[in-house]
Amino acid sequence: METIQSLLQARVQAAVPGDWVVQVQPAADRRFGDYQTNIAMLMARQQKANPRQVAQSILERIAVEDLCFPPEVAGAGFLNFKVRPEFLAARMLDLSKDPRCGIGAVARPKKMVVDFSSPNVAKPMHVGHIRSTILGDAIARVAEFLGHAVVRDNHIGDWGTQFGMLLLGWKRELDPEALQRDPLSEMERLYKLVSARCKEDPATLEAAREELVRLQGGDPENLGFWKEMIRLSQGQFDAVYGRLGVRFDVTLGESFYNARLKGVVQDLCDRGIARESEGAFCVFSDESVPPEEDPFLIRDREGWRPNPALVQKSDGAANYTTTDLATLEYRMEEWNPEEIVYVTDGRQQLHFRQLFAVFRRWKPGSTLRLAHVWFGTILGPDGKPFKTRSGETVRLSELLDEAEERAGRVLAEKNPDLPEAERLEIARLIGLGAVKYADLLPNRQSDYVFSWDKMLSFQGNTAPYLQNAYVRIRSIFRKAGCGVPQCAALDLGTEPERDLALKLLQFGEVLPQVLDDYRPNLLANYLFELANAFHTFYEACPVLKSEGALREGRLLLCDNAARVLQCGLGLLGIGVPERM
Ligand code: ARG
Repeated sequence: METIQSLLQARVQAAVPGDWVVQVQPAADRRFGDYQTNIAMLMARQQKANPRQVAQSILERIAVEDLCFPPEVAGAGFLNFKVRPEFLAARMLDLSKDPRCGIGAVARPKKMVVDFSSPNVAKPMHVGHIRSTILGDAIARVAEFLGHAVVRDNHIGDWGTQFGMLLLGWKRELDPEALQRDPLSEMERLYKLVSARCKEDPATLEAAREELVRLQGGDPENLGFWKEMIRLSQGQFDAVYGRLGVRFDVTLGESFYNARLKGVVQDLCDRGIARESEGAFCVFSDESVPPEEDPFLIRDREGWRPNPALVQKSDGAANYTTTDLATLEYRMEEWNPEEIVYVTDGRQQLHFRQLFAVFRRWKPGSTLRLAHVWFGTILGPDGKPFKTRSGETVRLSELLDEAEERAGRVLAEKNPDLPEAERLEIARLIGLGAVKYADLLPNRQSDYVFSWDKMLSFQGNTAPYLQNAYVRIRSIFRKAGCGVPQCAALDLGTEPERDLALKLLQFGEVLPQVLDDYRPNLLANYLFELANAFHTFYEACPVLKSEGALREGRLLLCDNAARVLQCGLGLLGIGVPERM
């Protein structure tokens, strides 16, 4: 379904010379209309003309009678449009028959890789991974719904120096019972134990190093233990993904790329991109951009100095950057994507700036779009990174347990008659929804304070509030005892009805914007506005107490609202209950 915004854009475009690109936006102040454009002001500035006069002359050439009331010039030269209720009503009928809620597929589908979640083996997933998982999943869902071909890739951290310590601990200190009970905790304990000893005791450090060398050399025993650590970790990750409803198309850990690393370093050297420095191999600045933008320079008191990207350490080992370069090459060969999106926390910004810059020099012909979608930190009530009371990092699985428990308590209070099994299921939807929504709602680059009370509140911009709007509509239909009426026409006679219809159609305007800068918060905010428009409508316009065509039309509006809410929340990875 073409959006009103794009229809209007085309109509205005037809009324101005072609070298101007017209933008139509939802009106900032709804008193003056539903949509507006500032094109007349832009033209007037260049032509040194009076903007209101330019706007007036556009008005005379514009053909929008079928869509809008006669447009008006407002303020300093805005053109304002108010959509006719008959047009909205016809669209509401189309929407009610459209299983995709008015969202057409993009004209040019892209192949996209979304690299997200990516936890590390032998460490429990913690809240830091929650944002990557939830954001990445939402981005992938939206992209897929818009028609893009998405590969979801979980780039697990399954290789690196930590395995030397883990293997040593595994051989000397493993508690098999504890491993069976809670494998990740046991592995974490081993790691902490050995790494603390390594700091004090050079012999332990050396022993750990030897275990690592043996692993890297393909020693069967060490490889076997390492594989077991991966298997156990993956089992725990999968349990969390199952609860969150998150899936991946491929899970290719860092180790998958080991065989390519030497070749990458060699190729970078052959092409003069990397060079030797104190036994290591590094990529330095090529001075192609100003120092402020150069990821290979850093400023200190004396001025700019080199900040090279290491691709091979002096002991011959490759590192995170090398692995990511090899991963890029593999993804190009395997999927030939047009875009790769990496979802990690903001502390990895320098890594990705360097990675992308090395890539551009390494594959200069490539048009591949690379995006680092980074996010801020989850804070505790004290404004410091979110921790448990005893100061440990919060486990994702425990966080989800608590979310469900708390949601269950809220529910038991609000609706004590719910049978136990149903209450648990609804609590699951509300609890997980609340955690996900609280994470997706803020601008991803800002830190946010984790607050159970806020995210589980039925009032305000929260998942339970949105779920409740959906539930309210379902209950209207239960009481009405009917399905969605087959209306032939619909009369949006009141402002709240018209507003709700307009809001519903804006779903198609908002959704593509989510991908422009990878911001699911735009969708979250849209759904909140939609729920508000629904509540205003619901308070002003009786549905069940009205009759005949009016009642049918209102029921149809209700159903459209429920479906868009359900679809939009679904794209954020949030389910809706039928009652709550
Ligand atoms: N395992 C890494 C971490 O936990 C994240 C990996 C992100 N993806 C990538 N291709 N570098 O920090």
